[in-house]
Amino acid sequence: MNKLDTALVTSALKEAGFSLTESLKEADVVLINTCSVRQHAEQRVLSHLGHLKHIKENKPDLIVGVIGCMAQRLGDKLLEHKAVNIVCGPTQIPQIADLLKQAFEKNEKRLAVTEKILKKTSENQNQTLERFESAYGIEDKQIPSQAYVRAMRGCNNFCTYCIVPYVRGPEVCRPPEAIIEQIKRLASEGIKQVTLLGQTVNYYKYNKGEKTYCLADLLDAAGNIEGIEWLKFVTNYPSEEFFDEIMQVMAASPKVCNYLHLPAQSGSDKILLAMNRHYSAAWYLELLAKARAVVPGIAIAGDFIVGFPGETEDDFQATAELLKKARYRNSFIFKYSPRPGTTADKRLEDTVPADVKQKRIAELLAAQEKISDQLSRAFLGKDVKVLVEGLSKKSHRNIAGSPDKPQLVARTATDYIVVFNGPMSLAGQFAKVKIIKTSPLTLFGELI
Ligand code: 5AD
Ligand code: SF4
Repeated sequence: MNKLDTALVTSALKEAGFSLTESLKEADVVLINTCSVRQHAEQRVLSHLGHLKHIKENKPDLIVGVIGCMAQRLGDKLLEHKAVNIVCGPTQIPQIADLLKQAFEKNEKRLAVTEKILKKTSENQNQTLERFESAYGIEDKQIPSQAYVRAMRGCNNFCTYCIVPYVRGPEVCRPPEAIIEQIKRLASEGIKQVTLLGQTVNYYKYNKGEKTYCLADLLDAAGNIEGIEWLKFVTNYPSEEFFDEIMQVMAASPKVCNYLHLPAQSGSDKILLAMNRHYSAAWYLELLAKARAVVPGIAIAGDFIVGFPGETEDDFQATAELLKKARYRNSFIFKYSPRPGTTADKRLEDTVPADVKQKRIAELLAAQEKISDQLSRAFLGKDVKVLVEGLSKKSHRNIAGSPDKPQLVARTATDYIVVFNGPMSLAGQFAKVKIIKTSPLTLFGELI
């Protein structure tokens, strides 16, 4: 979601006459796009701002803007920071070019544009966001031939630990024709893979005349667009609504990748209830079984929070058990981080000590690593189709590249990372690779 916002802002600012520089020395403006999901992410932003404050001592005209969820959450408080000139929440990003222009022209140093998030966003605001969203090119330039497209904004779920509904506002689905038009345009610009985004993208629902459009309809229509080869979607909330339709289209369409990110968060029914997640562990596992029955070989990924208030050793063991039964290809595991304003933070005490959270996260990661390793090994000797992202950032010794065939990184349709040696000209292209070695999270191969 944040990568998409960064791409949209970059694109809008280029259109307004700004140009992008990687060098802080050269920059007249520094914008930091922020995330508030965990405290750690916010701490990193504050440390960047501390650094920028020093830089501004010698470069007082430098304009610093904080955009995104942290801007929304902290609003005026962030403006008190010596380094900060502009604070702009996620629903106000269409104004960013104007704000910067004002900051330059009037030499105004302190502009805030966060507004309180209301239960319902106004039609006007939705239209402005929609115009902004569909007006700009949104390829992720760092990864050629791939793009994110937002299907829906916001979230109505209010899981008790989560800040997202407070900073991104209520759920709003984009009109299907706007989404499809955007994908057509991207395809005509050479985009081959599109990832549809939403906090609960499987809830996507749009009523038009007699018909209700759901995510399966979007995937079906997008799969018919010439040039689009792979379609992915993140992230999902465990729910029966539309689930069959989505799995059916995944099974039927060669374009829809067999990959499902379906966070469980916990395996303890008591904790799930306290988290305001509307399912039990057993029901969740049944949903996975359904997915596997309709789409054999589907790769499933999950998210977990350890150390939620009140989580006992037994609750944690229930989570470890669920993780093992689910046989995820990969899990994203986080320590509970209290977020101010959320129900969990207001009503529940952060009871699990830091060292216990640490022990639990390590145990869960180790259990997942074992499963990931087994699933990866199944690829040994197999040929896989990958979409090449570009140069591998990490250098893997065992397959040291040469100048004309450097180490490239690519992904399979099921989101496995594949590293192999090949020409840079493959970036953004599909390739076939034979897997010769595996590790839990990475497959190593040879170009065939
Ligand atoms: N503390 C820790 N992890 C969190 N997540 C969301 N809120 C919190 C929090 N307060 C995790 C969830 C979610 C992922 C994006 O971040 O697992 O799925
Ligand atoms: Fe947060 Fe829950 Fe919404 Fe996901 S579904 S964004 S965890 S409130």
